[in-house]
Amino acid sequence: AIPVIAIDGPSASGKGTVAALVAQKLGYHYLDSGALYRLTAVAAQLQNVAVDDETSLAQIALDLDVVFAGQQILLDGNDVSDALRSEAAGVGASKIAVLAKVRAALLDRQHAFRQAPGLVADGRDMGSVVFPDAQLKIFLTASAEERSQRRYKQLIEKGISANLADLLNDLRDRDARDSARTVAPLRQEDDAILLDTTEIGIADAVNFVLKNYEL
Ligand code: CDP
Repeated sequence: AIPVIAIDGPSASGKGTVAALVAQKLGYHYLDSGALYRLTAVAAQLQNVAVDDETSLAQIALDLDVVFAGQQILLDGNDVSDALRSEAAGVGASKIAVLAKVRAALLDRQHAFRQAPGLVADGRDMGSVVFPDAQLKIFLTASAEERSQRRYKQLIEKGISANLADLLNDLRDRDARDSARTVAPLRQEDDAILLDTTEIGIADAVNFVLKNYEL
């Protein structure tokens, strides 16, 4: 089977950055599964569909017309990269992500990223649901305080105003929602290796993943 490295973990743990760099080093494809949940939330908002209308949301997820063009993500031909990274899109994504039909509707799309020579996939359920046979599973985390500081820095660097205390609260809410849901809850799988990045930087985290992949 085409190899997969699954990197799961909570919000703002840095898993996206680490996963993309590992993919680059190995010459592998990269799947940002959170972007699919964000896209579904943004598309639903554009179509005025409520966050609890499971059937319509699942249809939107199935029908997404999305193109991943390097750093740009096009929805129906429009660049929605910035809208996707907004806190609103993240909150919307975590609300629709509790719906089983939405998760099921996104499965084929995620599996399609598994192409030679290999895939690095990041999200919440890469190792548990989407790619249970992954060659390597990493659970990447950091303290909520550290994660909120990273998110804060990220937003400020982009010129977006932010409040650290609000971000910490949002993160805690999102963690609670992601962990408590009945479908694909966020948790470390028995066969996943824990990588706590509270006190280590990106480069060390990338090397940790690559080391474990070589073993
Ligand atoms: O890191 P952050 O939570 O800000 O963003 P993300 O990884 O893009 O995910 C946004 C939301 O989508 C999360 O809060 C999850 O609820 C949901 N999600 C999921 O349920 N399953 C995935 N594989 C990826 C994201």
